[in-house]
Amino acid sequence: MCGIVGYVGSDRSLEVLLGGLKRLEYRGYDSAGVAVIDARDGSLNVAKRAGKLGVLEDELQRHPIGNGATGIGHTRWATHGGPTDRNAHPHLGDDGRLAVIHNGIIENFAALRDELLAEGFAFTSETDTEVAAVLLGREYRATGDLVEAFRRVVSRLDGAFTLLAVHQEQPGVVVGARRNSPLVIGLGDGENFLGSDVAAFVEHTRRAVAIGQDQIVVITPDEVAVTDFDGAGVEVEPFEVAWDAAAAEKGGWPSFMAKEIAEEPDAVANTLRGRIQDGAAVIPELSDLDELLTGIDRITIIACGTASYAGQVGAYAIEKWARIPVEVELSHEFRYRDPVITPSTLVVSISQSGETMDTLMAVKYAKDAGAKTLSICNTQGATIPRESDGAVYTHAGPEVAVASTKAFVAQITALYLFGLHLARLRGTLTSAQQAANLDELADIPGKLERVLESSDSVAQLARWMSDTRAVLFLGRHVGFPIALEGALKLKELAYIHAEGFAAGELKHGPIALIEAGQPVFVVVPSPRGSDEMHKKVVSNIQEIRARGARVLAIAEEGDAAVLPFADEVVRIPLAAPLFEPLLAVIPLQVFAMELAAAKGLDVDQPRNLAKSVTVE
Ligand code: F6R
Repeated sequence: MCGIVGYVGSDRSLEVLLGGLKRLEYRGYDSAGVAVIDARDGSLNVAKRAGKLGVLEDELQRHPIGNGATGIGHTRWATHGGPTDRNAHPHLGDDGRLAVIHNGIIENFAALRDELLAEGFAFTSETDTEVAAVLLGREYRATGDLVEAFRRVVSRLDGAFTLLAVHQEQPGVVVGARRNSPLVIGLGDGENFLGSDVAAFVEHTRRAVAIGQDQIVVITPDEVAVTDFDGAGVEVEPFEVAWDAAAAEKGGWPSFMAKEIAEEPDAVANTLRGRIQDGAAVIPELSDLDELLTGIDRITIIACGTASYAGQVGAYAIEKWARIPVEVELSHEFRYRDPVITPSTLVVSISQSGETMDTLMAVKYAKDAGAKTLSICNTQGATIPRESDGAVYTHAGPEVAVASTKAFVAQITALYLFGLHLARLRGTLTSAQQAANLDELADIPGKLERVLESSDSVAQLARWMSDTRAVLFLGRHVGFPIALEGALKLKELAYIHAEGFAAGELKHGPIALIEAGQPVFVVVPSPRGSDEMHKKVVSNIQEIRARGARVLAIAEEGDAAVLPFADEVVRIPLAAPLFEPLLAVIPLQVFAMELAAAKGLDVDQPRNLAKSVTVE
């Protein structure tokens, strides 16, 4: 949460900062601000406003703040203090000569604030960040050196933070530090960048360096220096960003979400690419981990939200193919219940951003408890894969819309590949079974194209239902997590009450919710997987229909059994039952997006949310 960008180079910092903030706005959009050192007179000028970035841009049009070679910018997701102009970042030191921006939570801010108040300092905001700014001003006066003062400040902070600072007496320098929050350097030519992620600067450079835990970075136009909090130098390893700026543009689509749903066939195809060899799943990044993966006797998947539903789908496949027990748990629950972890437990984390604090902390907890850790992640250089013993990247490309879509199908694809990779290592599938599953998987991108081509009817349905107040979702087996995901998408995008249930659970309580006209989406399993399961779900449909529900069935082509009982049937192509979630989720994503759009809501930036949840 919160997007951070820093720049030193030529006298265009304002344009670079605003461009970076635009790309980082998905990280938080309660307020935005910039600070630049004005090339005309060397003064530090700040503009900040509550609201989305556009509000700040209008303010800058009305009241220009000059431009220069050094600056920092911030887009906020409020934690301490509401989303007001005063609480927006940057925050100034007490003499107005330095500016600080921050992502995270400074846990000991109250004690530090009391210390500073006792010394006579005053505060203008309710934020934890202003404490760091005032502290930095005090230390700067004591040392006369921004880097040294900054080092003193960060070593007094507890909690999670990425902090950037500039001082008007040291133009051409931006200092940054990180603990438990992300920070990446962009390496330019005569200019350098800092960002919460590479999206902040990818239009200027694709060469990047991820900053490690508890490290400080100092950038000037021609140099980049990274140290630990004690000042010892740290070797850095640049990497090349795999996508370009165009990949993070809307490209003519009405929203990033519409574009990202349309990219789902590519997200799956790109995640499969290079990982199928001679009819078997071979994930090259895991080649050093054969011994580790054959030695494990249990897998725990940890993730939050949509990523956890991907984990639930993956668990069915991994258990079936690799014959190893798999449990799925929300990261924030896992860490606080004293789970049984042994050296032969593999903890697989799933995170699009690779920065979700709940998941990061759970990974650290698992490592400390002796587990082996593997990360499934969509973001190069992110913290969670760096903290893990191994990483499998999903190649969905940048996901900008706050609600996850293409990353979800890429995560499921990576889990299927991982299940088949494990099955190969552990000899639990014949080569014919391995090959048959991979053939199915290879066909998915084409089938996704077909689902997308026929999604107009779902969009129409969503528009008709735009005044709906509650929607229920039912699924069974791998359809159950898809029901949960369909409900989550509708809640977060359209602000409609939505619940997902296991279809078998219906008579144990939820059926009481059914009344005349209640819309219920039912993810119908293929009769070819288990005729019995299919029949049970058709019975569930009859039960709710008999009580007046409006049944919206998602069923495979040719499944006639649902026709007499469904008000609408959305067809998906035939696929082996374990792979159906990839196809069934698309209509539910499209439904939520179109219904939200019909209500006039911002589908890319739903209220109260942020893409990357970097606070616990
Ligand atoms: C919902 C959504 C969230 C994320 C969750 C985890 O649409 O996007 O539920 O899935 O916050 O985020 P990552 O995957 O970045 O760890």
